[in-house]
Amino acid sequence: MADLVIVGAGPQALTLSCLLLQKRSRLHRRLRIVDPSGRWLSCWQRQMERYEIPWLRSPSPHHPHPNAHALRRFAHSQQRHRQLEGAYGLPHTDLFAAFCREVIAEFALEGRVQAASVEHIRLPANGKGPLELSLSDGTTVQAGRVVIATGNGTPQWPTWIKAIAGEAPADALQHSDGIDLPALRLRPGERILIVGGGLTSAHLSLGALRRGAKVQLLCRRGLKQKPFDADPGWLGSKYLKGFHAEPCMHRRRRLVLEARDGGSITPETGAELREAQRRGKLQLHEHCEVQAAHWSSGEWDIVCGGGQRLSADRIWLATGHRQGVSQHPLLQQLHQQLPIELVDDWPVLGPDLRWPGTPVHLMGGLTALQVGPAARNLFGGREAAQRIWRAVVKH
Ligand SMILES: Cc1cc2nc3c(=O)[nH]c(=O)nc-3n(C[C@H](O)[C@H](O)[C@H](O)COP(=O)(O)OP(=O)(O)OC[C@H]3O[C@@H](n4cnc5c(N)ncnc54)[C@H](O)[C@@H]3O)c2cc1C
Ligand SMILES: NC(=O)c1ccc[n+]([C@@H]2O[C@H](COP(=O)([O-])OP(=O)(O)OC[C@H]3O[C@@H](n4cnc5c(N)ncnc54)[C@H](OP(=O)(O)O)[C@@H]3O)[C@@H](O)[C@H]2O)c1
Repeated sequence: MADLVIVGAGPQALTLSCLLLQKRSRLHRRLRIVDPSGRWLSCWQRQMERYEIPWLRSPSPHHPHPNAHALRRFAHSQQRHRQLEGAYGLPHTDLFAAFCREVIAEFALEGRVQAASVEHIRLPANGKGPLELSLSDGTTVQAGRVVIATGNGTPQWPTWIKAIAGEAPADALQHSDGIDLPALRLRPGERILIVGGGLTSAHLSLGALRRGAKVQLLCRRGLKQKPFDADPGWLGSKYLKGFHAEPCMHRRRRLVLEARDGGSITPETGAELREAQRRGKLQLHEHCEVQAAHWSSGEWDIVCGGGQRLSADRIWLATGHRQGVSQHPLLQQLHQQLPIELVDDWPVLGPDLRWPGTPVHLMGGLTALQVGPAARNLFGGREAAQRIWRAVVKH
């Protein structure tokens, strides 16, 4: 029997694995990590490559190593300190990847990810004994404890796509999850309409512009510029102290949503977009929302609020992801077996991020009611790992 199974091998799972092994190296043989890619950080790496992201949005202390200074030390030891940008030391993507490879080696975690996805989770019938996980390779795994660290939810599709008239080719309408800039083959002057307002929409706009496309970026509100998703006060005790003291989970949810306040872009990408706008390469439509889209005669005819009409060859939806228990197959199964309190589909977990009454812990965005607005980011992974490790080593 494997004692601890971590579902997912993204940055959050790696952060927890390293912390656990730093605290108790003998946990090595009791730890099992399962991810369909069979590798660490596959989704992370893919999103960085597909959107050609030059550096992270998060500061240098946010990474999977238990020592917050480790990334900065690594950069200096490799004479790569110039790859830490600005006052917050935002790491370049390739520096971060090299550092993570070193972390994986330091904790002897190479080759430890089993290539399978977890399809079913079963709690023990009488509340005692191991949990049972069914994997996509047809095997069953028994576990004393499970951590679900499976990432950022399902794509958020605007409602108007349900009513699209006309048969558009598959690549004429895509969510950002399906876009791969390096693999893109565009006709000269192809017109791309990007719906968004977050940093993904900015990177996709810049990537399409570099390839000679004509880009229209549509934001349902004004384009907001901020260094991070939320004020830096949320990356420490300044605001988190009051957040943790707040007993009402509905109020906490509101605080999380207010702190992030939807999507935002960094001042650097904002400057690049404005420059492209000044040069007439980019059209920015703020406070503009699509009402309907029709595919006819090989192009999109798009009707926006206020009756404005736009046309395009492709539509890209950089509209983010939906997070919720109802969006997540394993959490739906848990909720059927042991219902818990949900606040608008977000779970109310224990202080150690445990699904109450079970030895199942969560990491990632769905821990926001406990961890705060940065739960889905690298910072959230560090916070979550700090809460979970004690529960693991106690048993
Ligand atoms: C383009 C982009 C850039 C970002 N940049 C930053 C940044 O600079 N700084 C920052 O702090 N945050 C950033 N984020 C937020 C980011 O998503 C997180 O920091 C990070 O990827 C979350 O890590 P994770 O481990 O929760 O999820 P993921 O990296 O998504 O990893 C989850 C893993 O779980 C696996 N999985 C899913 N379902 C199952 C299953 N049933 N069984 C087994 N395995 C499963 C997946 O295959 C995946 O490998 C960015 C997000 C995006 C979209
Ligand atoms: N390291 C990097 O450089 C990098 C790059 C990309 C992303 N990221 C991070 O990754 C995370 C996700 O970013 P993201 O940009 O993918 O998602 P996001 O931050 O959630 O932004 C999604 C955007 O889509 C808009 N939207 C959602 N539904 C819509 C609809 N139906 N119609 C019109 N607009 C809609 C939202 O508008 P509202 O604002 O009005 O809600 C929001 O601006 C963030 O934490 C971000 O910082 C980092």
